[in-house]
Amino acid sequence: MADRYLRLAGTAPGRFLTRRVGLPQPAALMRWTAERPSLDGAVVRVVAGEVVAERVGPAEPVDPPVEPYAAVVLDATGIAEVGGLRAVRTSLGPLVRGLARCGRVVVLGAGAGGGAEAGAGPGGRDAAGAGAGDVEQAAVQEALAGFVRSLGKEIGGGRTVQLVRVAPGAALDSTLDFLLSPKSAYVSGQVIEVGPALRQPEVSGRRRTALVTGAARGIGESVAATLAREGAHVACLDVPGSGDALTAVAARLDGTALPLDITASDAGERIAAALDRLGGGLDVLVHNAGITRDRRFTHMDEDRWDAVLDVNLGSVLRTTGYLLKAGVLNDHGRIVATASIAGIAGNAGQTNYAASKAGIIGFVRSLAADPALRERGVTVNAVAPGFIETEMTAAVPFLIREAGRRLNSLGQGGRPVDVAETVAWLAATGSGGVNGQVVRVCGQSLLGA
Ligand SMILES: NC(=O)c1ccc[n+]([C@@H]2O[C@H](COP(=O)([O-])OP(=O)(O)OC[C@H]3O[C@@H](n4cnc5c(N)ncnc54)[C@H](O)[C@@H]3O)[C@@H](O)[C@H]2O)c1
Repeated sequence: MADRYLRLAGTAPGRFLTRRVGLPQPAALMRWTAERPSLDGAVVRVVAGEVVAERVGPAEPVDPPVEPYAAVVLDATGIAEVGGLRAVRTSLGPLVRGLARCGRVVVLGAGAGGGAEAGAGPGGRDAAGAGAGDVEQAAVQEALAGFVRSLGKEIGGGRTVQLVRVAPGAALDSTLDFLLSPKSAYVSGQVIEVGPALRQPEVSGRRRTALVTGAARGIGESVAATLAREGAHVACLDVPGSGDALTAVAARLDGTALPLDITASDAGERIAAALDRLGGGLDVLVHNAGITRDRRFTHMDEDRWDAVLDVNLGSVLRTTGYLLKAGVLNDHGRIVATASIAGIAGNAGQTNYAASKAGIIGFVRSLAADPALRERGVTVNAVAPGFIETEMTAAVPFLIREAGRRLNSLGQGGRPVDVAETVAWLAATGSGGVNGQVVRVCGQSLLGA
């Protein structure tokens, strides 16, 4: 659905008018294209006050780096005292002023011993057994999250700000590549934990196989296309009623169409059989199919409640359970499920939907901690989209839709590709240290923040 306000604010008279009356100023976001795969300008790294130019787009680094910068990375992992936080202001302040539109700020903080072992403080120790130094370090490291979330809200111009908590030996490259690229255009205000790769991936030229549910349209179609772009053979699953649309998506991506209702009692067996015909097992499982059946709780009938809980949560648990038990998911497999900010913030009229999406977060956190899966190098993560422009949100009443679009730091709705790029990063072979994370793709929505 066209966002006319975003288009208006992108024109010179529109910019003038919206600024005069104090309306939001959404910037046109720079998204990934094959012709423009990286941000323009220097990626500047600051460690203990020392500034180093890391890269300058596709060109050679220039020292000192020239403004406007594409991105600034502040290594704050060593900050352990309140006084040390001063360096955040002194070293980042001048650089942020020189940041290009759609530029990136990434703060690196000290992480715990591993992605899914959340709850432990920096250094892997919990507060109960910590000394005074540990407590101060935990406090100032948490302070970084408040800083990042606030800077994200005021920085404007399509710029984004994230905190990445880095555990010792973390496999950080794929995460930094994502956050410092146009692929993360609609991700902001996030705190992401990265640990060491659960298991070193064996080097193999084998083509990966991905399964995407709800792939006939919307976010699922975009996820399927993005995983295909990254080289995977994609099995595209959607309800039999999606017919021609599903066939067309699968054909365009040179993938396989799998017409199947994910809530069918034998869905697991039928997916396994289809993957068996393709051969080579499954590498990436993306649970994307989802529905809404909104009603106030007091008017919520059994059908709406059951349908949403079954499609959005029950089927995810059943099919994952079956595929894991049947040994279909390969070592180093990636499971990415789709939650929602409604599952974090709650939403009037969506008790069923929010419950199902919060359930997805519980599913991801619990499965990511499974020792047997960790041993096999299997990661489990969730994306939590905010307001994404799809047929699902086109059906939302006008005023609620406008609020959904504007009530975030980027002042606009996201596109399916924003979620798809995030899924592709979590699904990448290099993302073996990202586990148990719930990454919001919401332009830093005020809901649930
Ligand atoms: N669009 C948003 O703003 C938004 C926000 C938060 C979360 N999400 C989540 O993202 C996912 C995709 O959303 P979307 O906006 O692309 O929705 P959409 O309605 O455009 O697409 C969903 C797809 O899932 C398929 N599907 C539904 N039930 C199915 C079933 N039983 N078996 C197989 N396929 C089934 C549909 O046929 C459809 O093709 C959903 O899980 C949704 O809850 C979307």
